[in-house]
Amino acid sequence: MSQSSSVSAKAQRPSAVILGAQWGDEGKGKIVDVLSEKFDIVARYAGGHNAGHTVIIEGKKIVLQLIPCGVLRPECKGVIGNGVVFDPQAFLNEVKKLKEAGLPAYDPAAKQLFVSNRAQVILPYHRMIELAAETAPGRQTIGTTRRGIGPAYEDKIHRNGLRVVDLLNTSLLRTHINNACHEKNTIAHALFGTEPLDPKQMYEEYARLADQIAPFVTDTAVLLNDAINAGKNVMFEGAQGALLDIDHGTYPFVTSSSSTAGGAVTGTGVGPTKIGTVIGVTKAYVTRVGEGPFPTQDDGVMGELLAKRGNEFGAVTGRPRRCGWLDLPLLRYSNMINSTEWLVVTKMDVMDECPEIPVCTGYKIDGKVTDVIPADIVGFKKIEPVYTKMKGWMAPTEGITEYDKLPKLAQEYLEFVERESGAKIGMISTGPDRVQTMTQPAFAEMLG
Ligand code: GDP
Ligand code: IMO
Ligand code: MG
Repeated sequence: MSQSSSVSAKAQRPSAVILGAQWGDEGKGKIVDVLSEKFDIVARYAGGHNAGHTVIIEGKKIVLQLIPCGVLRPECKGVIGNGVVFDPQAFLNEVKKLKEAGLPAYDPAAKQLFVSNRAQVILPYHRMIELAAETAPGRQTIGTTRRGIGPAYEDKIHRNGLRVVDLLNTSLLRTHINNACHEKNTIAHALFGTEPLDPKQMYEEYARLADQIAPFVTDTAVLLNDAINAGKNVMFEGAQGALLDIDHGTYPFVTSSSSTAGGAVTGTGVGPTKIGTVIGVTKAYVTRVGEGPFPTQDDGVMGELLAKRGNEFGAVTGRPRRCGWLDLPLLRYSNMINSTEWLVVTKMDVMDECPEIPVCTGYKIDGKVTDVIPADIVGFKKIEPVYTKMKGWMAPTEGITEYDKLPKLAQEYLEFVERESGAKIGMISTGPDRVQTMTQPAFAEMLG
């Protein structure tokens, strides 16, 4: 069937997944904000308020955790998809932030922000179980954000979860909370000696929250598919990063959802043939927060310099992020599992004072050079990174918006990364603000 003639020029643009190519905090928030100008809808598909996406517009900072960054532009709609685990209180706190910032999306009457009726709800017992498990003797500490993300996904897969549609049904809500509290209190007390939560109080609180959330709730799969069929385009906003993916990441040091491109399909109800491209966001170096392997971590003065210049502290928990050098085997792996077509390289300016930049081009495992990514933590522990040392540009790049104005050595660094990673570099970010960005002509053409 041919498309209707009323389809606007903007509508010809492809839908795209934009995701973190590393262990999260790559600067997705900033890039989603910049690119949302070209999209009608931005939809979150996985994770929850464990994410922290920072956007800086004319010096004003806003951190969004659950709400897609696209809503910062009043003409862009925001969708929280079914793949997200939804904390009602966290959502309302963010809605309040939008109101204080004078953004219309806070008001359901604006019809700009929507929550899937099929998203799973995070309840206080999820946080209780997670906190107890993370601190229990003999348990593997993951270094989670302690937002109840893992236990909420456990209940989902166990077919024992509460969905947003059920939150709005008071009799179902009461029964669910009574039964779940009984079960979770018993388990948490038996295993961890935790004090029980009060189901009556919980029901009253969540019934109140449900009333405030109800006007935002809809069948977002229908909304998204109708929009795409009408010629609109959607950006699927990833949270976390490919290496934190429950299947493909550095298990068990991962989050509990599908943060890779495949998650955009299951997490929104839009099929893969409707998604035109995949854009991976990578820092010019690497950071990681929480536990888990990190072959190129630099604990020396250069790692400290990256942390200081990059202000590497978690946007959600304030924890310091570990810093290290670009890991091309992992970036190639990330590009492979996501079919990443375009890369966005952020935080180039952070490396302005590095006289030498080591880039990991391969691994040595048991003395043999290999490009294979180990599936297990034992394998990861054996990795000796093989580095190519590149000369640093030692000149300021902050705020540069034209590729030709970048120092020659910075251009060489980017060209090396592009060649070795197997994806085209479409954008480069040289500072946290919306305007500190440059777009390559082929990428601009693709976006239309
Ligand atoms: P996200 O989770 O991927 O959205 O990333 P976060 O917001 O958690 O962390 C990225 C941090 O880097 C934020 O503080 C951003 O403001 C900042 N940032 C993003 N791009 C750049 C850049 O190009 N240069 C610098 N210096 N900071 C950046
Ligand atoms: P954004 O979207 C960085 C990490 C946690 C922990 C692991 C599991 O801002 O990039 P969880 O609470 O999800 O069960 O924790 O995953 N983690 C992140 N690290 N950025 C994030 O999100 C993260 N979300 C979770 O630190 O190691
Ligand atoms: Mg973050």
